Amino acid sequence: MDQFPDHSSEPRPVGKTLTVLGFETSCDETAAAVVRLTPDGDATVLSSIVHSQIDDHAAFGGVVPEIAARSHVEMIAGVARCAMADADLTYDALDGVAATAGPGLVGGVMVGLGFGKAVALARDLPLIAVNHLEGHAVSARLGARVAYPFLLLLVSGGHCQLLEVRGIGDMSRLGTTIDDAAGEAFDKIAKAMGLGYPGGPALERVAETGDGSRFDLPRALLGRKDCDFSFSGLKTAASRLAQTCRTDQDRADLAAAVQTAIARQLSERSERAMTAYAERHDALTFVVAGGVAANRTVRATLEATAAKHGFAFLAPPMAYCTDNAAMIALAGAERLSLGLTSGLDTPARPRWPLDEARALADPIHPTGRKGAKA
Ligand code: KG4
Ligand code: ZN
Repeated sequence: MDQFPDHSSEPRPVGKTLTVLGFETSCDETAAAVVRLTPDGDATVLSSIVHSQIDDHAAFGGVVPEIAARSHVEMIAGVARCAMADADLTYDALDGVAATAGPGLVGGVMVGLGFGKAVALARDLPLIAVNHLEGHAVSARLGARVAYPFLLLLVSGGHCQLLEVRGIGDMSRLGTTIDDAAGEAFDKIAKAMGLGYPGGPALERVAETGDGSRFDLPRALLGRKDCDFSFSGLKTAASRLAQTCRTDQDRADLAAAVQTAIARQLSERSERAMTAYAERHDALTFVVAGGVAANRTVRATLEATAAKHGFAFLAPPMAYCTDNAAMIALAGAERLSLGLTSGLDTPARPRWPLDEARALADPIHPTGRKGAKA
């Protein structure tokens, strides 16, 4: 449509400091944030509001899409108002509005994207539609200067991918999960152990007093040379063992074994990717992002692996590992700094791979996952 041009194929760097309001509503957090980005690449979070729907979904043991979408509708305006008040800014101070346009639960994505479009239209601001995964990919830049390119392990509830990140919108996938994502494995095993929702943080707490060497858990895809992941065997084995746990110590030992097994697989596949990446690049930086990057055992294991292979290690500040709008505002600001904006007719996309070229070339596995769940 002519009145809603999409300039995303014509990068034109703007070279000035940009202040962007971002929205995130792709799962069970209603979030808004204001981020300022200088032409040198320094990012400052002026505000970051996250309303978690954990209490709305806890009784169901997981996220219920319709409940999530309805809650986003109720919360989004208040969350936006808080983000602007915390940043101490009026809408006149903004240079653009960014919103997650996918991938995710489409009812929720439509709420945030629609609200972002309304703000952009009312204030005559450019809209920047952001891929949620691109938000995670840039999230480490919220806490430190991280130069492109870098090797990224993106580990969340829905994704487990290794990516070469050369810049905003310029990423190649090196490996992905053939079944479950790492966060999904944490959540489902925690559920089988009766630890509640969300499972990852609960399992990490229980694992603190456990002995990870007591239970022997399967190791997946060991003979393969690629960088793909698989967690379904681990999930099945751990869920069976969960039925045999009688005492708190049994559960702590199993939780510690699960955490160690997940960290070990993430580390083994990252090592393969590091070796391949080091053949093509001189500056070696490894970034881990996404909700599972909040796990201290995972972080420590990956940090040691990075050091072993001569990579600098970076992870987002804890608050920006799990879903938030600051990472969406930053990805939006980085896009805007290149003159990349979106039309007001941009659709909400339940599926949206980061490496679109790879997805088009591999239509059987387009979503960033392989296997039956793709
Ligand atoms: O990035 P995120 O907030 O949402 C998605 O984009 O999926 O990630 C949520 C996932 C959940 O599976 C959650 O259990 C996991 O991240 N997670 C953790 C921890 N904190 C969050 N997993 C293990 N240990 C944690 N401390
Ligand atoms: Zn996420």
